[in-house]
Order: sequence, then structure tokens, then C-alpha cells
Amino acid sequence: MGKPIFLVGFMGSGKTTWGKKIAQALHIPFIDLDHDIVAHIEMSIPEYFALHGEQRFRELESQFLKKQFGKDAVISTGGGTPCFYDNMEWIKHNGLSLYLYHTPKSLYARLSQSDVNKRPVLKGLSNESLLAFIESKLQERKGYYEQAHIKFEQIHTPLEEIIDLIHQHQG
Ligand code: S3P
Repeated sequence: MGKPIFLVGFMGSGKTTWGKKIAQALHIPFIDLDHDIVAHIEMSIPEYFALHGEQRFRELESQFLKKQFGKDAVISTGGGTPCFYDNMEWIKHNGLSLYLYHTPKSLYARLSQSDVNKRPVLKGLSNESLLAFIESKLQERKGYYEQAHIKFEQIHTPLEEIIDLIHQHQG
């Protein structure tokens, strides 16, 4: 029975990119929770939100999270995953958690380059309103993210350092 390594953090923080790198360095599989959900629902997340609403998505997301129990893998979660139900408690108790921290400005720089309509939470936001939205959403969510065992500011932390921190926590 393994113990999953969960990556948590805001949308656009690089959870998938870093999850893949960490999994490769540790020689274990990488799982993207959103990707698994999309394969299951056979539609995009914005389509699912539009059809069934956010509440149903959050229920599904929580179920998919808990299916990861005992997996020896690196798992990237969605930006909202730790912030609903008992998900963050569950993550902490059933795995090692890593928070990829960014300042709101750094998130803005990254998200304003992306297609906001691919993320239903950001749908319809103009670049002018995006920074204020990120600031308030991060304020709302950071209490969850910050419960993670390891917090690192991705741009200032080399991969080797992250791997060392993981090994230290795994004891
Ligand atoms: C969400 C983040 C998305 C995805 C969904 C909702 C959120 O994942 O799960 O669009 O509420 O922050 P990413 O963090 O991978 O963009």
C-alpha cells in the first residue's frame, strides 16, 4: 500500500507540470485528477458545470480524490479540490501534500496568458477584473492550501530541493 503525494494550489500554479517532474524524479506514476474526471464524464469541465452545476462537480471531484487512497503516485488536484467537504483533511491524513505557492501577481501573469473560458470559475472575467478576482479567491482558499505538509514557491525552488523535502517528510 503506497502513500500518494498530492499537489495543491491555485489554478494556473503549475500543478500538472510539477507533478509530472516530481513523479519522473521519484520513478512513480503521475495522475491528474481533472484529467481522470474528464475521461469519466466524457465532456469538458466547463460543459459539466454548465449542464450539472458546480455542486455536482465538487461531489464528483471529492469521490475521485478519495479513489486515490493507497496509490503510490504523484497526484495533481484541481484548484478547488482541497477547499470543499473534508477534502484537505483527507489529503493530509492519507498522503503527503505539497502546496505550490504563487503571489497573486504571479498567478495573474500566468492566468492572463491562458484561455479563462477553459476554467469555469474564471469564465467571462476580463483581464482587468482578473487580478482582483485572484486576490479574493486566493484569500478565501489559502487557509486550505496552507495546511499542506510542504509549501514551496516554485520559481525559487529547484526540483532537487523539492525531492529532498519529500524524502525528509517520508522519513
Ligand atoms: C477549479 C480548478 C480547475 C478545475 C475546475 C475548477 C477551481 O483545475 O478543477 O475548473 O475551482 O479552482 P486547475 O487548478 O487544474 O485549473
